[in-house]
Amino acid sequence: MDVIILRDSDAVAAEGAALLLKVLRQKSNAVFGLASGRTPLAMYKRLIDDSRAAGLSFRDVTTFNLDEYLGLQATDAQSYRAYMQREFFDHIDIDPGNTFLPECAAGTDPLEVGPAYEKLIRSRGGIDLQILGIGRNGHIGFNEPTSSLNSRTRIKTLTRETVAANREHFDDAAEQPQLAITMGIATIMDAGHIVLLATGSDKAAAVRQSVEGPVSAMCPASILQLHEKVTVLLDEAAASELQLLDYYAWIAEQKCKLLDSLKER
Ligand code: F6R
Repeated sequence: MDVIILRDSDAVAAEGAALLLKVLRQKSNAVFGLASGRTPLAMYKRLIDDSRAAGLSFRDVTTFNLDEYLGLQATDAQSYRAYMQREFFDHIDIDPGNTFLPECAAGTDPLEVGPAYEKLIRSRGGIDLQILGIGRNGHIGFNEPTSSLNSRTRIKTLTRETVAANREHFDDAAEQPQLAITMGIATIMDAGHIVLLATGSDKAAAVRQSVEGPVSAMCPASILQLHEKVTVLLDEAAASELQLLDYYAWIAEQKCKLLDSLKER
């Protein structure tokens, strides 16, 4: 696990965008796993601006979002589909037919959405790079504490804490769904590279438990310790409760030295 501590949330957004664009440069038909919520907003802005500046195209890219509320349709402004269109897809040259969320269209059996989503991800060759945010309770996607660490895309009940954290996005509490369809933890773990973004002191305890705590279903993000290629991008506030802060800075220093020495060869 690479734990990278950056000055502030802008630097986290810039680094997240840079990692994604690096994959896009190497593979024009890359498959990206995407997150919604407050944390990646600045990264999407950077991606729009930086891809334009670099002349990079999303024409052949496929995206799979982590989750969608059950009961909201694409036409609902609070749906994650609407969020993705508004914040990202409408501003890049991606083919709308290649952007997927675990949406349950009216008239569809919600129990069929998960298995169909898994099949679709596999049919596109799997996810090259998965972006994650993290909940204050350590959730990734909407895999709340005690979610099976081996879970696949399915319906999950949100915790009261998650419902409260996202309350501000809904004008009327009665319209806020308590259920979502989310990629499972095993689905996330199948990605080739996972990049977790966390900013702000309200994420510090979840970050500490995920990075330095025991692997446990009580903190779903702790499973990332078992993945071969994970990059954790933190601002100083989100990193503030880590025990090994000095060590992460030391690693970054050694890495720079190594890269410089390789350049000189
Ligand atoms: C969103 C998602 C969630 C969020 C998490 C953090 O697609 O899967 O896990 O990443 O709830 O949300 P923010 O970024 O709003 O703090």
